[in-house]
Amino acid sequence: MIDLPDGRSTPGGWDLRQTTDELPWPDVTGKRCLDVGTADGFWAFELERRGAAEVVAIDVPSPFQQKARARFELACELRGSKAIYEERSVYDVDGEFDVVFMGFVLQMLADPIGALQVVHRACRGHLVLLDTVSVPLSLLPSPLARLDARRHAFEYFVFNRRGLRKAVELAGWTVQAQTRILRDRPGPGASNSWGHRLGLLGRSCALRASV
Ligand SMILES: C[S@@+](CC[C@H](N)C(=O)[O-])C[C@H]1O[C@@H](n2cnc3c(N)ncnc32)[C@H](O)[C@@H]1O
Repeated sequence: MIDLPDGRSTPGGWDLRQTTDELPWPDVTGKRCLDVGTADGFWAFELERRGAAEVVAIDVPSPFQQKARARFELACELRGSKAIYEERSVYDVDGEFDVVFMGFVLQMLADPIGALQVVHRACRGHLVLLDTVSVPLSLLPSPLARLDARRHAFEYFVFNRRGLRKAVELAGWTVQAQTRILRDRPGPGASNSWGHRLGLLGRSCALRASV
């Protein structure tokens, strides 16, 4: 759900608005930011709302993203946003960013550590990573991931809480803060969302890392 200037909000499949307050944000004021796997742009707009000077939002083409990009562009227009949308995979990121945001995209990548290494090379400041975690695996004391965690084609790895941190560290980042396990909240558009259709309502965890 994305808030619009007239007080309404888009009927998104997930309501991430409360989650924003739970994340370990770095100061993004005046910073050049990258939102990886932006979908409809919720996090790109949040970075802008927090004072980012420039936001580049990237995603890859798919039938899902075609619709999400239309919502991104509409919200951009209605909010008077200056966020720039680029059709680009995380593996092809270049340039230099102060803050990189990755929301629920790591789980969709065949090479999550490789992707974290790519954005590490393109970052001179902080990563904020928010992703689904496995609650049962988080009860175990080791860094772990479950492969094809939802038994369908969309996720490759879902880490446990320690595994999420370890993946980031293995890619060269220094983890500064990590949240407890957070509860995902469905939005009013949930009946059409991936999460609803695939029974994904779940738990997530966020961390902040520096280069
Ligand atoms: C579950 S959605 C999360 C969307 C948004 N970040 C959020 O938190 O609501 C995952 C997004 O990652 C995108 N994605 C998948 N593979 C990608 C890749 N290789 N590079 C960039 N984005 C990718 C998908 O198209 C999708 O929009």
